[in-house]
Amino acid sequence: PTIHYILKDGSTREVDARIGASVMETAIRGNVRGIDAECGGCCSCATCHVYVDDAFAGLLPPPDDMESALLDAVAAERQPNSRLSCQLSVTAAFDGLRVRVPQTQV
Ligand code: FES
Repeated sequence: PTIHYILKDGSTREVDARIGASVMETAIRGNVRGIDAECGGCCSCATCHVYVDDAFAGLLPPPDDMESALLDAVAAERQPNSRLSCQLSVTAAFDGLRVRVPQTQV
């Protein structure tokens, strides 16, 4: 599946994702800037915040309590489509997924 990352400058990076990898890991492997992921994916840093394109909202399981609590601590504004990208595990249905990186992670 191909994930489209919309960067701060408005440009888009496309990265081929592996099934089972997270949207955060896919970004790091693809050298996508703007996703810091300081904790390495253990859902404790809130620096892997992304905004998921509304067209894909129904595809994703809702955030669990831990992710939701951490989303309250993101540096940029939390919006209804805010997610922690380390908690999004890629499936085949993610092909074409669009996520936007926030203006800041810290
Ligand atoms: Fe730290 Fe996602 S990488 S919470």
